[in-house]
Amino acid sequence: MTAKVVSFINMKGGVGKTTLLFEMAHLIAKKFRHKDGSKFKILLIDTDPQANLTQNEQDRYIKINKIEDNVNETDHKETGIFGTKSIQRLFDSDMASVEQTEKDEVIFKIDECIDLIPGELETIFLERSQSGKGALLRNFILDNDLKSQYDLILIDCPPTYSLYTELSMLISDYYLIPTIPDAYSILGIDLLNEVVEDLKRVHRHSIFEETSPQLLGIIINKVKEGDKKSSAWVETVRQSYGVGEVFSTQVPIRSKLSKATLDVALVDTHAQAVISILLCVCQEFLERLSIFYEEKINE
Ligand SMILES: Nc1ncnc2c1ncn2[C@@H]1O[C@H](COP(=O)(O)OP(=O)(O)OP(=O)(O)O)[C@@H](O)[C@H]1O
Ligand SMILES: [Mg+2]
Repeated sequence: MTAKVVSFINMKGGVGKTTLLFEMAHLIAKKFRHKDGSKFKILLIDTDPQANLTQNEQDRYIKINKIEDNVNETDHKETGIFGTKSIQRLFDSDMASVEQTEKDEVIFKIDECIDLIPGELETIFLERSQSGKGALLRNFILDNDLKSQYDLILIDCPPTYSLYTELSMLISDYYLIPTIPDAYSILGIDLLNEVVEDLKRVHRHSIFEETSPQLLGIIINKVKEGDKKSSAWVETVRQSYGVGEVFSTQVPIRSKLSKATLDVALVDTHAQAVISILLCVCQEFLERLSIFYEEKINE
């Protein structure tokens, strides 16, 4: 195994980075197999100080494992089910850039297929340009040889240009841009290309110059079906960025995908109509990564 590392990123907030990453990861784990029948192993990393992905995973984990039945719920609210495991551990020591952080200090096993490096809500927001810190996640992944232990490493990024963007991009092979049909989201896409160029300049003469992440594609989310303005916008994006850059499946607005109604991943529910759209997104995602797969639709 050599994991493909993909950042879900857009400088625009609320476009569905976290939702798509969360749903796609669980869908791939449950509905897709390698050609030899084995399951995909996926590591999720929450670099966003808002920690929405971590919250989603926690809600799902508590629900799926029926933790409320056995343990006082407030205990979990206070300490979190992830205990001290968090991306924050990478920053703990002043010597963090030279010392090795062990994987058990940081990675939480969600289930057979999915592991998580949780984010931490209380994290003090770290600005960019803290020398040496941008490589901490990359060092952690390489020191622990994590790429050989997973098929996919998916990173949920915050909607800002910060140290966390640098952390994510320095280890990513690809970046995936979820966007929504509005004018500002185009600015988000352009900004992101500048960010990659900017990081290449900062890290010139390092390995990053050759290994900087490639655009995997743009996923258009929250599409209003039958809305002319929305369709015109999608057409503009296709023409501006190239038809091949945009995922052919678009994700419509669906209340089932909205956080307000969701307490487990869609794949754990019976939301078949939305799942079938997301399955197409996952297929295209794996194909763009040149990962061969079989589907286990009936499982
Ligand atoms: N296709 C969809 N249909 C309906 N609601 C959606 C859809 N996709 C996402 N949402 C909802 O939109 C909101 C924003 O989504 P999400 O948190 O995934 O965006 P984000 O890009 O990760 O935001 P941030 O930049 O703040 O991290 C959430 O409440 C989510 O449930
Ligand atoms: Mg998010």
